[in-house]
Amino acid sequence: MNFDRALGVADLADDSGDDRADFFAQHQTVQHRTQVVQNAVLDLELSLRCPEPEGHGRILLHTYTRPHVYYTTVAHHITLIPGDGIGPEVADATVRAVEATGVSIVWDRVDAGVAAQKATGHYLPEAVYESLARTNVGLKGPVGTPVGTGHPSVNVALRKRLNLFVNFRPVRMLPGLKTRFSDLPIDLVIFRENTEDLYSGIEHEVVTDVVESLKVITKVASMKIAKAAFEYSRREGRKAVVAIHKANIMKMSDGLFLRCCREVAAGFPEIAYTELIVDNACMQLVMRPEKFDVLVLPNLYGDIVSDLCAGLVGGLGIVPGANLGDTCAVFEAVHGSAPDIAGQGKANPTALMQSARLMLAHLGERDASVRLQKAIEAVYASGEHLTHDVGGSASTEEFTEAVIREL
Ligand code: NAI
Repeated sequence: MNFDRALGVADLADDSGDDRADFFAQHQTVQHRTQVVQNAVLDLELSLRCPEPEGHGRILLHTYTRPHVYYTTVAHHITLIPGDGIGPEVADATVRAVEATGVSIVWDRVDAGVAAQKATGHYLPEAVYESLARTNVGLKGPVGTPVGTGHPSVNVALRKRLNLFVNFRPVRMLPGLKTRFSDLPIDLVIFRENTEDLYSGIEHEVVTDVVESLKVITKVASMKIAKAAFEYSRREGRKAVVAIHKANIMKMSDGLFLRCCREVAAGFPEIAYTELIVDNACMQLVMRPEKFDVLVLPNLYGDIVSDLCAGLVGGLGIVPGANLGDTCAVFEAVHGSAPDIAGQGKANPTALMQSARLMLAHLGERDASVRLQKAIEAVYASGEHLTHDVGGSASTEEFTEAVIREL
């Protein structure tokens, strides 16, 4: 809770500044004030009649003889999963940047991945789910998955169990950043289905040396991702959605995905709807990336195309993401745990910081979200404190300090 950012005290009856001072005197620790507010929040929706200023909670305090309304920031409770490899480095940088916006957050830190396995014997302990059940919002660093053998993906398991069916990845050029495509106004958004397809993890050996992996496409999940893409487009004034597929070969599975996209598209006549076969889509994305607006894809193509698009705007260190479900949201970068640079202070935290910017908007902290985005953009525009992956020589720490100074 950050009372310093309080906009002021409003009085339903008559009030004096002394009451507010009294409140601070009576409740001197953050924990104490948080407890009072948590109790008061229960009364909030029923009791208040006036709209609160954007980004601020209304708090009815019963600590006096008459009820008083305090406009103040309420602490958000967020599950923080630092992850593996560069995860803890970029997570730490991001937490510092978010806190520098002045938004009050109580971080509920839980481990997944290697650290969790060492401590509990499980890569994805129940504590992670328990925390997300309490907070409904997570900020997550990348978690490694062994290639070829070993444990199943923590990321896929989390997305499936929490039914985070939308993977949302906005891809935009940052000002001043030199890439092969710097002169193009790239601003596209990827909607990747997040719970099925070849990521269902159903594989078996039919006979020796013959293996099958099942690609599962359902109407329910395909309709949900298509609706998410179109509803977002309508809300944000986007003009065109393209569905990306391989239904010329996988006629049943990708055919079902396309039928769902067409059905949803029919309800959004103001938004242009087209379809592209995935291999052609990759070529078009490299040749004319500025022509793309909103992309909707099944899981596997969405994963691959996300990295391709990250490459257009400066690489994996840049692009943010959000895993969204009906009740829960987990914000994470597109990139992985980057074991090749872990522990060297070289990781670029931009992607997770930009994911946190999406998280702040999701929490209703729009002002802080915009300020964080502007601070990141200012650091890129000056070009002085950029990390190695985008052509600079700054460390994770130097870049983070530069963003915090801008804030
Ligand atoms: P990766 O994304 O970790 O790394 C690919 C390349 O990009 C590497 O050269 C790396 O140094 C660079 N890179 C990535 N993020 C960067 C950043 N923030 N700053 C500077 N450079 C960055 O992909 P890779 O190597 O294929 O996967 C490594 C591990 O991460 C695997 O175990 C994989 O399963 C896991 N992974 C986890 C994800 C998640 O938790 N959401 C997503 C993708 C991969």
